[in-house]
Amino acid sequence: MDIVLENVCKQYGKKKIIDHLNLHIPSGKIYGFIGLNGAGKTTTMKMLTGLTPVSSGTIKFSGKTLQEIRKDYRAFGAFISSPSYYKNLTAYENLAMIQKVLEQPVSEVDRVLDIVGLSNSKQKRVSEFSFGMKQRLGLAFAFLNNPEVLILDEPTNGLDPEGIVEIRNLLYDLSKIEGKTIFISSHNIAELEQISDVIGIIQKGKMVFQGSLETLYNESGLSYCVEVDDEKKMKQFLEEAQLSFEVERNLFEVTISKKDIPDMLWELQRRKISVYEIAANRNLEKIFLKIARGVDANATGNAR
Ligand SMILES: Nc1ncnc2c1ncn2[C@@H]1O[C@H](COP(=O)(O)OP(=O)(O)OP(=O)(O)O)[C@@H](O)[C@H]1O
Ligand SMILES: [Mg+2]
Repeated sequence: MDIVLENVCKQYGKKKIIDHLNLHIPSGKIYGFIGLNGAGKTTTMKMLTGLTPVSSGTIKFSGKTLQEIRKDYRAFGAFISSPSYYKNLTAYENLAMIQKVLEQPVSEVDRVLDIVGLSNSKQKRVSEFSFGMKQRLGLAFAFLNNPEVLILDEPTNGLDPEGIVEIRNLLYDLSKIEGKTIFISSHNIAELEQISDVIGIIQKGKMVFQGSLETLYNESGLSYCVEVDDEKKMKQFLEEAQLSFEVERNLFEVTISKKDIPDMLWELQRRKISVYEIAANRNLEKIFLKIARGVDANATGNAR
């Protein structure tokens, strides 16, 4: 099931929080949603799940409205901020209660507690849960009844390193093997970099990038590590070419777009500078921070 947001706006009072958001979450893919604190990630997810209404614009799930698909509890599962539970009940009882309301098999509860690693704490009351355990329970709730779409707002926040890897692998498999559509936000950008097919960057309520990681890397003026034999000649070349760089001994970190690399190599050869190694410095976190800061400074918004 794909999800399309068209010109979605959200205002709280007079304050514009989400500004003409156009977003496409392709079916069966993992969409990593990133942005600084207050950029509008949670608000977007709340609108997607109907926790708060849009002020204007449309949201479609495979062409259908939220009202149309909401009747089907298998359409999507969501994990948004800290969900609340009956604290005096166990994790099992909380989830079993939901299953009874939905008239769905209670046996499903064991499955989801198992995949989030809470099987051993089944009989513990939620009031005795650690923060990470509550997060895991929230995920179990999202996975309940095996929904087609997962909308997950910072799902690994507060999990231990083992839990982070488990959930990351789980989400990857759910998407790649079972074809689930996953919309996920996280401040752990390296983590999203590993599993996302599509990256969306939101800045002050506006999309500033949407596309594949490959496109982002290629378009954002990646830096490349270049190892050469002659530091002095290389420095002279970079200064003449007005390329920004950092240097440590004969290792240069050069900011240049991919399409300009062949020309640079030709020129280095012409100047008799030997290149031992050139490698792309692929780092989503760096690119994200560059975009975030750049947009802040220029207040532009060239969403693709
Ligand atoms: N109920 C509300 N009433 C008024 N303003 C709100 C409300 N909820 C969120 N906002 C504002 O909307 C903006 C976006 O908040 P949101 O929670 O969507 O950001 P976020 O990207 O999820 O940030 P974080 O990374 O901190 O979770 C913020 O300026 C916030 O103050
Ligand atoms: Mg948030």
